Amino acid sequence: MLALPPIGFGTYLMRGEECITAVRQAIDTGYRLIDTAALYDNEQDVGRAIRESGIPRNEIFVTTKIRGRNHGFDEAQEACRESLRKLDMDYVDLLLIHWPNPQNDRYIDTWEAMVELKEDGLVGNIGVSNFTPSTLDRIIERSGVTPAVNQIELHPYFQQEAMRELHAKLGITTQAWSPLGRKSDLLTDPVLVDIAARHSVSTAQVALRWSIQIGNVPIPKSTSVARIVQNFDVFSFELNEGDMVAIATLQRGTLSSLDPETAEVL
Ligand code: A2P
Repeated sequence: MLALPPIGFGTYLMRGEECITAVRQAIDTGYRLIDTAALYDNEQDVGRAIRESGIPRNEIFVTTKIRGRNHGFDEAQEACRESLRKLDMDYVDLLLIHWPNPQNDRYIDTWEAMVELKEDGLVGNIGVSNFTPSTLDRIIERSGVTPAVNQIELHPYFQQEAMRELHAKLGITTQAWSPLGRKSDLLTDPVLVDIAARHSVSTAQVALRWSIQIGNVPIPKSTSVARIVQNFDVFSFELNEGDMVAIATLQRGTLSSLDPETAEVL
């Protein structure tokens, strides 16, 4: 399994000065995994923040993603080079297919292009995001190359147990996007409120700690200095078995976001 920093910093919906400041703050706080995407339109800002941080490039794990409109062999190769130009980097540590867009049926060509990009040294590792059992099976069967990572929506209201089991079986690292369940009332859930009070932490810290304890790499995002710091402060307490069992009951079974089987995200 690919060894990753235990927590990452997400940059969805951040751009310009706000993005540069947040990423700088995250690196100063200690985050060493920064997650961007062509779709976020902030690779330039992320690259600049990393350069300005003064931390050597090889100490920061940088992820970017190929967007739907760039699926296809040549398109994906050019998209990766464009991302590197924007980031102003020679390589990224991890390149993901952002969404499978199965109706377009071009994720296999995209994946084969990424296998070559890795061989060429432009990317350290290749993986996918929002892939389902069938789309995962298909790329593995066709290419013989298993993704290092599948980054999926994952939080206490959507626990993705079946996907996590499949990932464990295949040796895929699970990254959790929306680990704070942004589109729900997760952070005011009474079960989390109670656990948080007993550990003298916030409900967000409980959600992140849960994610880490079940073996994921959560990628919280925030533009607030206090919350960037708070979200990184999840290594000085531990959830006990009772806490974990209580959180397991929160599963609601519905994605808060798009359904990767049908969504077309360009
Ligand atoms: P903000 O930038 O104002 O901190 P998700 O992980 O589900 O994508 O959620 C991200 C959202 O949660 C962001 O809008 C962010 O807003 C907010 N957020 C991030 N960290 C915390 C925290 N510790 N407590 C409450 N809200 C948070």
